[in-house]
Amino acid sequence: MTDRLDVAPLAFGPDGTPVSAAYGDVYHSTAGGPAQARHVFLGGNGLPARWRGRARFGIVETGFGLGLNFLATWQAWRDDVEACDVLDYVAFEKHPFRAEDLGLAQAAWPEFADLAADLRAAWPALTPGEHPLRLAGGRLRLVLVFGDVRTMAPGVTAAADAFYLDGFSPAKNPDMWSPEVCAELSRLGAPGATLATWSVAGSVRRAVQSAGFAVEKRPGFAGKRQMLVGALA
Ligand SMILES: C[S@@+](CC[C@H](N)C(=O)[O-])C[C@H]1O[C@@H](n2cnc3c(N)ncnc32)[C@H](O)[C@@H]1O
Repeated sequence: MTDRLDVAPLAFGPDGTPVSAAYGDVYHSTAGGPAQARHVFLGGNGLPARWRGRARFGIVETGFGLGLNFLATWQAWRDDVEACDVLDYVAFEKHPFRAEDLGLAQAAWPEFADLAADLRAAWPALTPGEHPLRLAGGRLRLVLVFGDVRTMAPGVTAAADAFYLDGFSPAKNPDMWSPEVCAELSRLGAPGATLATWSVAGSVRRAVQSAGFAVEKRPGFAGKRQMLVGALA
């Protein structure tokens, strides 16, 4: 178990992008949240193609935030007639939002309205530990791991085919991108697991490489020149 949970306060920047005052960073690209999710996290992990024809596909995310990447993934999976039967999604989150604040923020994404409502209806108590949720008639298995990824990851079991690395900026939140965290994530990776993140910081590249991922840079989303993808060697 971890230290006490600090619930995230919902706040927006002048352009309407959700921001964290504590971390001095935005929750998603100011150039568009859903499009960033699809370009960086789905596209960077070869999704939806890689889950096609499989019985099960696993995703692990650091951190869950407003659920934007999760909702974009759920929508792509739901709309893909060739998608795997079961989608397992494990997400770490140190500062979860209250359901009502999720609702306010998720109102910015009408394309996810039905899925977001289902997520909020299943939203668990904000207590430290693992919260398994069953969505989409039980075929979408979401495990929310509330607490610090550094202390929680060693106790988690998962078989991730894809990692979404979406902590705040490594310069502002180095804890989340440490070599120790990356090694724990690597332990949760299935053979051939891939990763994607918008950060190409040298510290991030070195941490994931030391955890066994071969990495390469790809064109980034919107204004960003590059993003990082990787695969377990
Ligand atoms: C950029 S936001 C994630 C946005 C999210 N992926 C989405 O789709 O809405 C980064 C998240 O990492 C969480 N976080 C920061 N440090 C953490 C830590 N040490 N362990 C777990 N979560 C952490 C923050 O609370 C925040 O929700």
